Amino acid sequence: MSEVFGTPHGGELVSLLVDPERSKILKELSRDLKSLTLSRQRVADLELLMNGAFSPLRGFMRNTDYESVLDRMRLQNGLLWPMPVSLDISEAEAGCLEPGQSIALRDSEGFMLAVMHIEDLWEIDKTKEAELIYGTQDRAHPGVDFLFSSVGTHYIGGPIEGLQLPIHSAFKRHRHTPIELRALFKKLGWRRIVGFQTRNPLHRAQFEMTIRAMGAAKANLLLHPVALRAKPGDIDYYTRIHCYLAVSKHYPPNMMLLSLLPLAMRMAGPREALWHAIIRKNYGCTHFIVGRNHACPGQRDDGSFFYPPEAAKDLAQAYSEELDIGIIPFEEMVYVVDEDIYMPVSEVPPTSQVRFLSDDAFHQKLRTSRRIPEWFTFPEVVDAIQKAYPPRHKQGFTIFLTGLSGAGKSTIARILYARFLEMASRPVTLLDGDIIRRNLSSELGFSKEHRDLNVRRIGFVASEITKNRGIAICAPIAPYASTRRQIRERIETTGGFVEVHVGTPVEVCESRDRKGLYAKARAGLIKGFTGVDDPYEAPVNPEVYIDTTAMTPDEAVQEVLLYLERAGFVR
Ligand code: PPS
Repeated sequence: MSEVFGTPHGGELVSLLVDPERSKILKELSRDLKSLTLSRQRVADLELLMNGAFSPLRGFMRNTDYESVLDRMRLQNGLLWPMPVSLDISEAEAGCLEPGQSIALRDSEGFMLAVMHIEDLWEIDKTKEAELIYGTQDRAHPGVDFLFSSVGTHYIGGPIEGLQLPIHSAFKRHRHTPIELRALFKKLGWRRIVGFQTRNPLHRAQFEMTIRAMGAAKANLLLHPVALRAKPGDIDYYTRIHCYLAVSKHYPPNMMLLSLLPLAMRMAGPREALWHAIIRKNYGCTHFIVGRNHACPGQRDDGSFFYPPEAAKDLAQAYSEELDIGIIPFEEMVYVVDEDIYMPVSEVPPTSQVRFLSDDAFHQKLRTSRRIPEWFTFPEVVDAIQKAYPPRHKQGFTIFLTGLSGAGKSTIARILYARFLEMASRPVTLLDGDIIRRNLSSELGFSKEHRDLNVRRIGFVASEITKNRGIAICAPIAPYASTRRQIRERIETTGGFVEVHVGTPVEVCESRDRKGLYAKARAGLIKGFTGVDDPYEAPVNPEVYIDTTAMTPDEAVQEVLLYLERAGFVR
């Protein structure tokens, strides 16, 4: 094992950033090039390609490397590499691109970050990728879900010429390229460095674990958290960094360094753990901590795990020698009550009383504004988190009424709006289907694609309102479960989401037919009318279910208010 940080993976630390002269030429050339706007995740991949964290890759993977990575965790030349890094595009984009072309890669604001020379374009076999990379096709796995719902239909591969790294406006002092970090280690005289990867705030268990790892490896610590949200429900990035900065004061002086890694995690468990180790080797780490369930999504609904708890550690250790990086395995740490210390589970005397709080349980406590016990974390961390996650009665929330036309959504929404104004506890916005269709979605019709777009727009506006601690009342039909789920996931990262299924049966809605639309739909004058000749996927587990057949609007509103009170959103 290297005693001094040394050779990057594959032998050479790559930098794909071109010199100013070439940059000028590429900028001029780009006027005639097609552009691709990259998602947040692909911008992150591009940054790590350009800055050398993905050394020895020199661009997005070509098909031969991609297939080889899927089949045997190695690039075509035999070098260990467990995770595909190809650039996905949509079907429409695939229709206008071809190998031999160069394209400008831009971020969401239009900044040109790089030029890619396309050498390969192929259709993605998502089932194969899901099985080989994630070991499952279960959509409850966030990586699999992302692959099927957000990744395009085709991949392109080819070398990159980098023009500029993405700009990060906050916490600049904690952003480093591998070259910068290596130079810093050298300046500090650090020869043995243990890397710690995390996507969660650091609590006492992780703190104690890193201290022990430093001792075991006789090394300094690189606290190297990912700077992107890895999965819905994760604590937001700014809050996490405030927590890391607070905890860094608890380490012995000059023993640790905090650097933020712009990595789009895939949550692929064992393969991902190995990938994390390779990336840290490129940043100059000599050791890397791999704990139980490293890079694993939480449990499935039935309580089972996607990967055996030790699988990530076992795989990383199996390749430790080949990679020339020491893998420091870590057991679960538990709090030993009598001694007020943390210990690995296997070291705890059998008679001791222990406590443990999983990340999921911690997140659940946060969401429901329950007290976080002192033994679990540091007071500064609790402060930082509580600032960002206030108690429920101070959080924003979205009430999402969904149901057929004529079910009673708009009437309930309007009364709720008035009641919240009367309560005057938070700003309230009514996003009724009609209001949105007139002001935001006037160009849209009622195809699945247009309905999804319409509902996503509503979800976006509602999430902004919720984030800013207001109340958003939405009342679209929103017939598709997966679109509603996406909106829920987005909004739940910023506040509450209360789905109200106004499940009044179609016969009742039709008998009301206030707008005369059912009659027209039955007569075939309107095609694709929800409930008549277009689907409505009823929510399986809404927070509130209302059937207005035999209920007054005020009674229906009362049901919603009672739920809000029970859940703590209103007092
Ligand atoms: S969706 O599916 O969520 O985008 O629909 P939404 O924006 O709520 O719009 C539904 C209202 O549009 C009228 N309308 C139709 N509804 C369903 N299917 C078809 N084809 C259709 N064409 C027009 C209808 O009046 C809905 O109003 P509400 O308020 O629900 O009665």
